[in-house]
Amino acid sequence: MQTAQLSIDPAFVVAPVNRRVFGSFVEHMGRCVYGGIYEPEHPSADADGFRGDVLELVRELGVTAVRYPGGNFVSGYRWEDGVGPVEDRPTRLDPAWRTIETNAFGLNEFMRWARKAEIEPIMAMNLGTRGLQEAIDLLEYANHPGGTALSDARIAHGEKEPHGIRMWCLGNEMDGPWQLGHKTAEEYGRLAAETARAMRQFDPELELVACGSSGRQMPTFGAWEATVLEHAYDVVDHISAHAYYELEGDDVASFLASSTDMDRFIREVVATADHVGARLSSTKRIAISFDEWNVWYLKAMQANGMPDDWTVAPRLSEEAYTALDAVVVGSLLITLLRHADRVTAACQAQLVNTISSIRAEPDGPAWRQSIFHPFALTARHARGTVLDLRVDAPALATAKHGEVPVLDAVATHDAEEGLVTVFVVNRDPASAVALATELRAFGDLELVEATLLGGDDLMATNTREAPDRVVPVAHPSGSLDGTVLRAELPPASWSMFRLRAAR
Ligand code: AHR
Repeated sequence: MQTAQLSIDPAFVVAPVNRRVFGSFVEHMGRCVYGGIYEPEHPSADADGFRGDVLELVRELGVTAVRYPGGNFVSGYRWEDGVGPVEDRPTRLDPAWRTIETNAFGLNEFMRWARKAEIEPIMAMNLGTRGLQEAIDLLEYANHPGGTALSDARIAHGEKEPHGIRMWCLGNEMDGPWQLGHKTAEEYGRLAAETARAMRQFDPELELVACGSSGRQMPTFGAWEATVLEHAYDVVDHISAHAYYELEGDDVASFLASSTDMDRFIREVVATADHVGARLSSTKRIAISFDEWNVWYLKAMQANGMPDDWTVAPRLSEEAYTALDAVVVGSLLITLLRHADRVTAACQAQLVNTISSIRAEPDGPAWRQSIFHPFALTARHARGTVLDLRVDAPALATAKHGEVPVLDAVATHDAEEGLVTVFVVNRDPASAVALATELRAFGDLELVEATLLGGDDLMATNTREAPDRVVPVAHPSGSLDGTVLRAELPPASWSMFRLRAAR
Protein backbone atom coordinates (compact mmCIF):
# COMPACT_ATOMS: atom_id res chain seq x y z
CA MET A 1 0.00 0.00 0.00
CA GLN A 2 1.17 3.57 -0.66
CA THR A 3 2.13 5.57 2.43
CA ALA A 4 1.95 9.30 3.11
CA GLN A 5 2.71 11.68 5.97
CA LEU A 6 1.30 15.04 6.91
CA SER A 7 3.34 17.42 9.07
CA ILE A 8 1.25 19.78 11.13
CA ASP A 9 2.39 22.37 13.64
CA PRO A 10 0.18 24.92 15.44
CA ALA A 11 2.85 27.59 14.93
CA PHE A 12 2.49 27.58 11.16
CA VAL A 13 -0.69 29.59 10.68
CA VAL A 14 -1.96 30.61 7.23
CA ALA A 15 -4.84 32.81 8.42
CA PRO A 16 -8.07 32.59 10.40
CA VAL A 17 -10.83 30.49 8.82
CA ASN A 18 -12.96 33.09 7.09
CA ARG A 19 -16.60 32.07 7.58
CA ARG A 20 -17.52 33.70 4.25
CA VAL A 21 -15.73 30.84 2.49
CA PHE A 22 -18.82 28.76 3.24
CA GLY A 23 -20.99 30.89 0.99
CA SER A 24 -23.50 29.76 -1.60
CA PHE A 25 -25.32 31.23 -4.56
CA VAL A 26 -28.98 31.79 -5.38
CA GLU A 27 -29.59 32.77 -8.98
CA HIS A 28 -32.83 33.23 -10.87
CA MET A 29 -31.88 30.17 -12.89
CA GLY A 30 -34.02 27.09 -13.36
CA ARG A 31 -35.77 26.20 -10.09
CA CYS A 32 -33.28 27.69 -7.65
CA VAL A 33 -35.62 30.51 -6.61
CA TYR A 34 -39.06 29.43 -7.86
CA GLY A 35 -39.66 25.90 -6.62
CA GLY A 36 -36.42 26.04 -4.63
CA ILE A 37 -36.25 28.54 -1.81
CA TYR A 38 -39.66 30.00 -2.74
CA GLU A 39 -42.79 27.92 -3.29
CA PRO A 40 -45.83 29.52 -1.61
CA GLU A 41 -48.04 26.50 -2.42
CA HIS A 42 -45.73 24.02 -0.72
CA PRO A 43 -47.06 22.46 2.51
CA SER A 44 -43.94 23.60 4.39
CA ALA A 45 -44.10 27.19 3.09
CA ASP A 46 -44.30 30.02 5.60
CA ALA A 47 -46.33 33.23 5.30
CA ASP A 48 -43.64 34.67 2.99
CA GLY A 49 -43.84 31.66 0.68
CA PHE A 50 -40.42 30.31 1.70
CA ARG A 51 -40.12 26.53 1.83
CA GLY A 52 -39.55 25.54 5.46
CA ASP A 53 -37.97 22.20 4.58
CA VAL A 54 -35.43 23.93 2.34
CA LEU A 55 -34.70 26.60 4.95
CA GLU A 56 -33.99 23.87 7.48
CA LEU A 57 -31.53 22.18 5.13
CA VAL A 58 -29.86 25.50 4.32
CA ARG A 59 -29.22 26.03 8.03
CA GLU A 60 -27.93 22.48 8.39
CA LEU A 61 -25.62 22.98 5.40
CA GLY A 62 -23.97 25.76 7.39
CA VAL A 63 -24.08 28.33 4.61
CA THR A 64 -22.82 31.67 5.89
CA ALA A 65 -23.35 34.03 2.94
CA VAL A 66 -25.40 33.89 -0.26
CA ARG A 67 -24.71 35.71 -3.52
CA TYR A 68 -27.85 36.87 -5.34
CA PRO A 69 -29.55 37.28 -7.92
CA GLY A 70 -27.00 36.04 -10.50
CA GLY A 71 -24.99 34.96 -12.36
CA ASN A 72 -25.72 35.51 -16.01
CA PHE A 73 -29.26 36.49 -15.00
CA VAL A 74 -28.11 39.68 -13.30
CA SER A 75 -26.59 41.12 -16.47
CA GLY A 76 -30.05 41.75 -17.93
CA TYR A 77 -31.91 42.35 -14.66
CA ARG A 78 -33.79 45.47 -13.67
CA TRP A 79 -33.85 45.37 -9.89
CA GLU A 80 -36.86 47.75 -9.75
CA ASP A 81 -38.97 45.03 -11.41
CA GLY A 82 -38.65 42.92 -8.28
CA VAL A 83 -39.82 45.42 -5.65
CA GLY A 84 -43.20 46.89 -4.72
CA PRO A 85 -46.63 45.29 -4.85
CA VAL A 86 -46.30 41.89 -6.50
CA GLU A 87 -49.39 42.43 -8.67
CA ASP A 88 -47.71 45.48 -10.25
CA ARG A 89 -44.47 43.76 -11.08
CA PRO A 90 -43.79 43.16 -14.78
CA THR A 91 -43.24 39.76 -16.33
CA ARG A 92 -40.10 39.80 -18.46
CA LEU A 93 -38.02 37.60 -20.70
CA ASP A 94 -34.73 36.49 -19.19
CA PRO A 95 -32.44 36.04 -22.19
CA ALA A 96 -29.62 34.54 -20.09
CA TRP A 97 -31.55 31.33 -19.42
CA ARG A 98 -34.32 31.81 -22.02
CA THR A 99 -37.02 31.77 -19.37
CA ILE A 100 -39.93 33.89 -18.20
CA GLU A 101 -39.22 35.93 -15.07
CA THR A 102 -42.37 36.76 -13.13
CA ASN A 103 -40.55 38.98 -10.62
CA ALA A 104 -42.69 37.56 -7.81
CA PHE A 105 -39.42 37.22 -5.90
CA GLY A 106 -37.02 40.16 -5.73
CA LEU A 107 -34.67 42.06 -3.46
CA ASN A 108 -36.92 42.43 -0.42
CA GLU A 109 -38.08 38.81 -0.56
CA PHE A 110 -34.44 37.75 -0.76
CA MET A 111 -33.50 39.90 2.22
CA ARG A 112 -36.41 38.49 4.23
CA TRP A 113 -35.31 34.97 3.30
CA ALA A 114 -31.68 35.83 4.17
CA ARG A 115 -32.74 36.89 7.67
CA LYS A 116 -34.60 33.64 8.16
CA ALA A 117 -31.72 31.60 6.77
CA GLU A 118 -29.30 33.59 8.95
CA ILE A 119 -26.95 34.29 6.09
CA GLU A 120 -25.10 37.40 4.95
CA PRO A 121 -26.29 38.69 1.57
CA ILE A 122 -23.76 39.28 -1.21
CA MET A 123 -25.53 41.40 -3.80
CA ALA A 124 -24.59 41.35 -7.46
CA MET A 125 -25.49 44.31 -9.65
CA ASN A 126 -26.07 44.60 -13.35
CA LEU A 127 -23.13 46.15 -15.17
CA GLY A 128 -24.07 44.36 -18.40
CA THR A 129 -27.10 46.17 -19.77
CA ARG A 130 -26.98 48.85 -17.07
CA GLY A 131 -24.44 51.09 -15.38
CA LEU A 132 -23.44 53.47 -12.64
CA GLN A 133 -26.76 55.25 -12.13
CA GLU A 134 -28.76 52.06 -11.64
CA ALA A 135 -26.07 50.72 -9.34
CA ILE A 136 -26.18 53.71 -7.01
CA ASP A 137 -29.98 53.76 -7.17
CA LEU A 138 -30.03 50.17 -5.99
CA LEU A 139 -27.57 50.96 -3.23
CA GLU A 140 -29.67 53.92 -2.07
CA TYR A 141 -32.87 51.87 -2.18
CA ALA A 142 -31.33 49.02 -0.24
CA ASN A 143 -29.09 50.72 2.28
CA HIS A 144 -30.15 54.32 2.90
CA PRO A 145 -32.18 54.70 6.12
CA GLY A 146 -34.92 56.95 4.69
CA GLY A 147 -35.96 60.44 3.68
CA THR A 148 -35.16 60.10 -0.03
CA ALA A 149 -37.38 58.92 -2.86
CA LEU A 150 -35.66 55.56 -3.20
CA SER A 151 -35.20 54.77 0.47
CA ASP A 152 -38.77 55.86 1.20
CA ALA A 153 -39.95 53.55 -1.57
CA ARG A 154 -38.27 50.65 0.26
CA ILE A 155 -40.02 51.67 3.46
CA ALA A 156 -43.32 51.87 1.59
CA HIS A 157 -42.58 48.37 0.31
CA GLY A 158 -42.60 47.09 3.88
CA GLU A 159 -38.87 47.24 4.70
CA LYS A 160 -38.53 49.96 7.31
CA GLU A 161 -34.93 49.16 8.27
CA PRO A 162 -32.18 49.61 5.69
CA HIS A 163 -30.83 46.28 4.50
CA GLY A 164 -27.22 47.18 5.31
CA ILE A 165 -25.81 45.04 2.50
CA ARG A 166 -22.06 45.24 2.82
CA MET A 167 -20.62 43.12 0.02
CA TRP A 168 -21.43 43.97 -3.62
CA CYS A 169 -20.34 42.34 -6.88
CA LEU A 170 -19.70 44.82 -9.68
CA GLY A 171 -21.35 42.77 -12.43
CA ASN A 172 -20.94 39.12 -13.35
CA GLU A 173 -18.48 37.37 -15.67
CA MET A 174 -18.04 40.45 -17.82
CA ASP A 175 -15.12 38.73 -19.60
CA GLY A 176 -17.45 36.09 -21.10
CA PRO A 177 -18.77 36.61 -24.64
CA TRP A 178 -22.00 34.90 -23.50
CA GLN A 179 -22.63 37.65 -20.96
CA LEU A 180 -25.22 40.30 -21.79
CA GLY A 181 -23.22 43.50 -22.19
CA HIS A 182 -19.90 41.61 -22.37
CA LYS A 183 -17.01 44.07 -22.32
CA THR A 184 -13.30 44.28 -22.96
CA ALA A 185 -11.09 44.46 -19.88
CA GLU A 186 -10.50 48.18 -20.56
CA GLU A 187 -14.21 48.94 -20.86
CA TYR A 188 -15.13 46.92 -17.82
CA GLY A 189 -12.19 48.11 -15.74
CA ARG A 190 -13.23 51.72 -16.25
CA LEU A 191 -16.89 51.01 -15.53
CA ALA A 192 -16.08 48.96 -12.43
CA ALA A 193 -13.78 51.67 -11.10
CA GLU A 194 -16.29 54.46 -11.75
CA THR A 195 -19.11 52.48 -10.16
CA ALA A 196 -16.98 51.53 -7.17
CA ARG A 197 -15.89 55.12 -6.65
CA ALA A 198 -19.48 56.34 -6.74
CA MET A 199 -20.64 53.61 -4.35
CA ARG A 200 -17.88 54.55 -1.93
CA GLN A 201 -19.11 58.14 -1.97
CA PHE A 202 -22.29 56.75 -0.45
CA ASP A 203 -20.53 54.43 1.95
CA PRO A 204 -16.76 53.99 2.19
CA GLU A 205 -17.22 50.84 4.29
CA LEU A 206 -18.68 48.74 1.46
CA GLU A 207 -16.75 45.70 0.26
CA LEU A 208 -16.63 45.65 -3.51
CA VAL A 209 -15.83 42.77 -5.83
CA ALA A 210 -14.54 43.36 -9.36
CA CYS A 211 -15.17 40.63 -11.92
CA GLY A 212 -12.15 38.48 -12.56
CA SER A 213 -12.11 35.68 -15.10
CA SER A 214 -15.01 33.28 -15.49
CA GLY A 215 -12.49 30.48 -15.69
CA ARG A 216 -8.77 29.85 -15.83
CA GLN A 217 -9.26 28.52 -19.36
CA MET A 218 -10.47 31.89 -20.68
CA PRO A 219 -8.17 33.26 -23.41
CA THR A 220 -8.04 36.60 -21.60
CA PHE A 221 -7.21 35.09 -18.19
CA GLY A 222 -4.43 37.00 -16.46
CA ALA A 223 -4.47 39.96 -18.82
CA TRP A 224 -8.10 40.55 -17.82
CA GLU A 225 -7.31 40.70 -14.09
CA ALA A 226 -4.27 42.93 -14.68
CA THR A 227 -6.17 45.47 -16.78
CA VAL A 228 -9.25 45.54 -14.57
CA LEU A 229 -7.14 46.01 -11.45
CA GLU A 230 -5.03 48.72 -13.05
CA HIS A 231 -8.26 50.70 -13.24
CA ALA A 232 -9.92 49.61 -10.02
CA TYR A 233 -7.15 48.58 -7.58
CA ASP A 234 -7.72 51.41 -5.12
CA VAL A 235 -11.49 51.18 -5.02
CA VAL A 236 -12.21 47.44 -4.87
CA ASP A 237 -11.40 44.88 -2.19
CA HIS A 238 -11.82 41.60 -4.05
CA ILE A 239 -11.40 40.18 -7.51
CA SER A 240 -13.72 37.28 -8.35
CA ALA A 241 -12.84 33.84 -9.68
CA HIS A 242 -15.23 31.20 -11.05
CA ALA A 243 -14.52 27.53 -11.73
CA TYR A 244 -16.63 24.47 -12.50
CA TYR A 245 -15.31 20.93 -12.88
CA GLU A 246 -16.77 17.74 -14.30
CA LEU A 247 -15.89 14.12 -14.91
CA GLU A 248 -14.93 13.83 -18.56
CA GLY A 249 -15.36 10.34 -20.04
CA ASP A 250 -13.82 7.88 -17.63
CA ASP A 251 -10.87 10.05 -16.60
CA VAL A 252 -11.54 9.72 -12.88
CA ALA A 253 -7.95 10.56 -11.89
CA SER A 254 -8.03 13.97 -13.58
CA PHE A 255 -11.44 14.69 -12.13
CA LEU A 256 -10.26 13.79 -8.62
CA ALA A 257 -7.33 16.17 -9.13
CA SER A 258 -9.57 19.11 -10.14
CA SER A 259 -8.44 21.08 -7.12
CA THR A 260 -4.97 21.27 -8.72
CA ASP A 261 -6.51 23.58 -11.29
CA MET A 262 -8.29 25.61 -8.62
CA ASP A 263 -5.07 25.86 -6.65
CA ARG A 264 -3.17 27.14 -9.70
CA PHE A 265 -5.98 29.53 -10.51
CA ILE A 266 -5.79 31.07 -7.02
CA ARG A 267 -2.01 31.34 -7.09
CA GLU A 268 -2.06 32.94 -10.54
CA VAL A 269 -4.74 35.49 -9.60
CA VAL A 270 -2.80 36.36 -6.44
CA ALA A 271 0.41 36.80 -8.48
CA THR A 272 -1.38 39.01 -11.01
CA ALA A 273 -3.04 41.16 -8.36
CA ASP A 274 0.23 41.54 -6.44
CA HIS A 275 2.04 42.46 -9.65
CA VAL A 276 -0.46 45.28 -10.24
CA GLY A 277 -0.13 46.31 -6.59
CA ALA A 278 3.65 46.49 -6.99
CA ARG A 279 3.36 48.60 -10.14
CA LEU A 280 1.07 50.96 -8.29
CA SER A 281 3.37 50.99 -5.24
CA SER A 282 0.38 49.99 -3.17
CA THR A 283 0.57 48.31 0.21
CA LYS A 284 -3.04 47.16 -0.16
CA ARG A 285 -3.63 43.50 -1.00
CA ILE A 286 -6.57 42.41 -3.13
CA ALA A 287 -8.45 39.35 -1.87
CA ILE A 288 -10.16 36.69 -3.98
CA SER A 289 -13.89 36.16 -3.86
CA PHE A 290 -14.24 32.69 -5.38
CA ASP A 291 -17.91 33.41 -5.82
CA GLU A 292 -18.84 30.55 -8.15
CA TRP A 293 -17.37 27.07 -7.83
CA ASN A 294 -18.69 23.54 -7.97
CA VAL A 295 -18.93 20.34 -9.96
CA TRP A 296 -21.20 21.10 -12.94
CA TYR A 297 -21.96 18.87 -15.92
CA LEU A 298 -21.88 21.89 -18.19
CA LYS A 299 -20.96 19.99 -21.36
CA ALA A 300 -24.22 18.04 -21.11
CA MET A 301 -26.15 21.25 -20.65
CA GLN A 302 -24.42 22.81 -23.64
CA ALA A 303 -25.11 19.70 -25.73
CA ASN A 304 -28.81 19.77 -24.81
CA GLY A 305 -29.00 23.46 -25.66
CA MET A 306 -31.03 26.11 -23.91
CA PRO A 307 -34.82 25.75 -23.56
CA ASP A 308 -36.48 26.59 -26.87
CA ASP A 309 -39.79 27.59 -25.33
CA TRP A 310 -40.01 30.40 -22.82
CA THR A 311 -41.40 29.07 -19.54
CA VAL A 312 -41.27 29.98 -15.87
CA ALA A 313 -38.58 28.19 -13.85
CA PRO A 314 -37.86 25.18 -16.09
CA ARG A 315 -35.62 22.39 -14.81
CA LEU A 316 -32.06 23.44 -15.65
CA SER A 317 -28.87 21.60 -14.65
CA GLU A 318 -30.58 19.60 -11.91
CA GLU A 319 -27.51 17.49 -11.37
CA ALA A 320 -27.79 14.18 -9.53
CA TYR A 321 -24.45 14.26 -7.76
CA THR A 322 -22.48 11.08 -7.19
CA ALA A 323 -20.28 10.04 -4.29
CA LEU A 324 -17.32 10.78 -6.59
CA ASP A 325 -18.59 14.34 -7.13
CA ALA A 326 -18.81 14.72 -3.35
CA VAL A 327 -15.15 13.72 -2.94
CA VAL A 328 -14.17 16.36 -5.51
CA VAL A 329 -16.29 18.99 -3.75
CA GLY A 330 -14.55 18.07 -0.48
CA SER A 331 -11.18 18.58 -2.10
CA LEU A 332 -12.20 21.93 -3.65
CA LEU A 333 -13.17 23.09 -0.15
CA ILE A 334 -9.78 21.95 1.15
CA THR A 335 -8.12 24.09 -1.52
CA LEU A 336 -10.22 27.16 -0.74
CA LEU A 337 -9.39 26.82 2.95
CA ARG A 338 -5.69 26.30 2.27
CA HIS A 339 -5.62 29.75 0.69
CA ALA A 340 -7.33 31.41 3.66
CA ASP A 341 -4.85 34.29 3.53
CA ARG A 342 -6.13 35.39 0.11
CA VAL A 343 -9.47 33.66 -0.53
CA THR A 344 -11.70 35.50 1.88
CA ALA A 345 -15.08 34.65 0.35
CA ALA A 346 -16.40 31.78 -1.75
CA CYS A 347 -19.83 30.72 -3.00
CA GLN A 348 -20.71 27.22 -4.04
CA ALA A 349 -22.95 27.49 -7.09
CA GLN A 350 -25.76 26.94 -6.49
CA LEU A 351 -27.91 26.29 -3.42
CA VAL A 352 -31.13 24.55 -4.47
CA ASN A 353 -32.15 22.46 -7.52
CA THR A 354 -29.83 24.10 -10.07
CA ILE A 355 -26.23 22.75 -9.76
CA SER A 356 -27.10 22.34 -6.10
CA SER A 357 -26.41 20.79 -2.73
CA ILE A 358 -30.13 20.66 -1.96
CA ARG A 359 -32.86 19.24 -4.18
CA ALA A 360 -36.55 20.00 -3.77
CA GLU A 361 -39.55 18.68 -5.66
CA PRO A 362 -42.70 20.74 -6.26
CA ASP A 363 -45.19 19.85 -3.59
CA GLY A 364 -42.77 17.08 -2.58
CA PRO A 365 -39.75 16.51 -0.35
CA ALA A 366 -36.39 18.23 -0.17
CA TRP A 367 -33.22 16.21 0.28
CA ARG A 368 -29.44 16.42 0.67
CA GLN A 369 -27.38 15.65 -2.41
CA SER A 370 -24.08 13.80 -1.94
CA ILE A 371 -22.13 17.09 -2.18
CA PHE A 372 -24.14 18.49 0.74
CA HIS A 373 -22.14 16.37 3.17
CA PRO A 374 -18.52 17.50 2.69
CA PHE A 375 -19.74 21.09 2.62
CA ALA A 376 -21.78 20.76 5.81
CA LEU A 377 -19.02 18.94 7.69
CA THR A 378 -16.30 21.35 6.59
CA ALA A 379 -18.44 24.40 7.40
CA ARG A 380 -19.22 22.97 10.83
CA HIS A 381 -15.76 21.77 11.83
CA ALA A 382 -13.20 24.03 10.12
CA ARG A 383 -12.69 26.40 13.06
CA GLY A 384 -10.07 28.79 14.31
CA THR A 385 -7.05 29.13 12.04
CA VAL A 386 -5.92 27.30 8.92
CA LEU A 387 -2.54 25.62 9.37
CA ASP A 388 0.13 25.41 6.72
CA LEU A 389 0.70 21.67 6.63
CA ARG A 390 3.25 19.77 4.57
CA VAL A 391 2.19 16.76 2.52
CA ASP A 392 4.73 14.06 1.90
CA ALA A 393 2.88 11.75 -0.48
CA PRO A 394 3.50 9.78 -3.68
CA ALA A 395 2.63 11.41 -6.99
CA LEU A 396 -0.40 10.47 -9.02
CA ALA A 397 -0.20 10.76 -12.82
CA THR A 398 -3.19 12.49 -14.38
CA ALA A 399 -3.90 13.16 -18.06
CA LYS A 400 -5.12 16.70 -17.45
CA HIS A 401 -3.06 18.08 -14.58
CA GLY A 402 0.20 16.14 -14.87
CA GLU A 403 1.63 14.61 -11.69
CA VAL A 404 -0.14 15.68 -8.51
CA PRO A 405 0.38 14.61 -4.88
CA VAL A 406 -1.98 11.75 -4.22
CA LEU A 407 -3.30 13.54 -1.11
CA ASP A 408 -5.01 16.89 -0.85
CA ALA A 409 -5.19 18.06 2.76
CA VAL A 410 -5.75 20.95 5.13
CA ALA A 411 -5.90 21.28 8.91
CA THR A 412 -7.57 23.83 11.15
CA HIS A 413 -6.81 24.62 14.77
CA ASP A 414 -9.10 26.21 17.29
CA ALA A 415 -6.57 26.96 20.03
CA GLU A 416 -9.20 28.24 22.46
CA GLU A 417 -11.29 25.10 22.30
CA GLY A 418 -8.27 22.82 21.83
CA LEU A 419 -9.63 21.42 18.56
CA VAL A 420 -7.61 20.16 15.62
CA THR A 421 -9.40 19.03 12.46
CA VAL A 422 -7.76 17.38 9.49
CA PHE A 423 -9.51 17.13 6.12
CA VAL A 424 -7.86 14.88 3.56
CA VAL A 425 -8.71 13.46 0.15
CA ASN A 426 -7.11 10.43 -1.44
CA ARG A 427 -7.22 11.31 -5.13
CA ASP A 428 -5.99 7.93 -6.30
CA PRO A 429 -8.95 6.23 -7.98
CA ALA A 430 -7.49 2.76 -7.55
CA SER A 431 -5.21 2.51 -4.50
CA ALA A 432 -5.60 3.12 -0.80
CA VAL A 433 -3.07 5.24 1.09
CA ALA A 434 -1.79 4.54 4.62
CA LEU A 435 -1.66 7.94 6.31
CA ALA A 436 0.45 8.84 9.35
CA THR A 437 0.28 12.31 10.87
CA GLU A 438 2.54 13.32 13.76
CA LEU A 439 0.61 15.57 16.13
CA ARG A 440 3.15 15.84 18.95
CA ALA A 441 3.30 19.63 18.68
CA PHE A 442 -0.31 19.90 19.93
CA GLY A 443 0.31 18.09 23.24
CA ASP A 444 -2.02 15.30 24.34
CA LEU A 445 -4.98 14.86 22.02
CA GLU A 446 -7.90 12.47 21.78
CA LEU A 447 -9.60 11.46 18.55
CA VAL A 448 -13.25 12.49 18.85
CA GLU A 449 -14.47 11.75 15.34
CA ALA A 450 -13.22 10.09 12.18
CA THR A 451 -15.53 10.29 9.17
CA LEU A 452 -15.31 8.90 5.65
CA LEU A 453 -17.11 9.76 2.43
CA GLY A 454 -16.61 8.05 -0.90
CA GLY A 455 -16.01 4.38 -0.86
CA ASP A 456 -17.37 1.45 -2.80
CA ASP A 457 -20.03 2.77 -5.13
CA LEU A 458 -18.62 6.01 -6.45
CA MET A 459 -21.47 6.48 -8.92
CA ALA A 460 -24.19 6.24 -6.24
CA THR A 461 -26.47 9.26 -5.93
CA ASN A 462 -29.12 10.46 -3.49
CA THR A 463 -32.60 10.53 -4.97
CA ARG A 464 -36.10 11.38 -3.86
CA GLU A 465 -36.69 7.66 -3.24
CA ALA A 466 -33.30 6.99 -1.62
CA PRO A 467 -32.15 10.33 -0.16
CA ASP A 468 -29.53 8.80 2.14
CA ARG A 469 -27.70 6.47 -0.17
CA VAL A 470 -24.56 8.61 -0.06
CA VAL A 471 -23.83 9.71 3.49
CA PRO A 472 -20.68 10.06 5.57
CA VAL A 473 -19.85 7.00 7.67
CA ALA A 474 -17.62 6.33 10.67
CA HIS A 475 -14.08 5.89 9.38
CA PRO A 476 -13.24 2.18 9.48
CA SER A 477 -9.57 2.74 10.30
CA GLY A 478 -8.93 6.14 11.93
CA SER A 479 -6.99 5.83 15.19
CA LEU A 480 -4.65 7.80 17.40
CA ASP A 481 -1.50 5.82 18.09
CA GLY A 482 0.26 7.85 20.81
CA THR A 483 0.74 11.19 19.07
CA VAL A 484 0.36 9.77 15.54
CA LEU A 485 -2.96 9.85 13.73
CA ARG A 486 -3.18 6.79 11.51
CA ALA A 487 -5.74 5.85 8.91
CA GLU A 488 -6.10 3.89 5.76
CA LEU A 489 -7.64 6.18 3.16
CA PRO A 490 -9.65 4.19 0.59
CA PRO A 491 -9.27 5.07 -3.10
CA ALA A 492 -11.22 8.19 -4.15
CA SER A 493 -12.30 9.16 -0.66
CA TRP A 494 -12.70 12.20 1.59
CA SER A 495 -11.90 11.90 5.28
CA MET A 496 -12.26 14.15 8.29
CA PHE A 497 -10.47 13.59 11.63
CA ARG A 498 -11.42 15.67 14.66
CA LEU A 499 -9.13 15.75 17.65
CA ARG A 500 -9.43 17.52 20.96
CA ALA A 501 -6.97 18.38 23.69
CA ALA A 502 -7.14 15.54 26.23
CA ARG A 503 -8.78 16.61 29.47
O1 AHR B 1 -23.99 29.26 -11.94
C1 AHR B 1 -24.41 29.15 -13.26
C2 AHR B 1 -23.79 30.17 -14.18
O2 AHR B 1 -22.41 29.93 -14.32
C3 AHR B 1 -23.84 31.61 -13.73
O3 AHR B 1 -25.02 32.22 -14.07
C4 AHR B 1 -22.71 32.24 -14.47
O4 AHR B 1 -22.16 33.33 -13.78
C5 AHR B 1 -21.71 31.11 -14.67
O5 AHR B 1 -21.27 31.02 -15.96
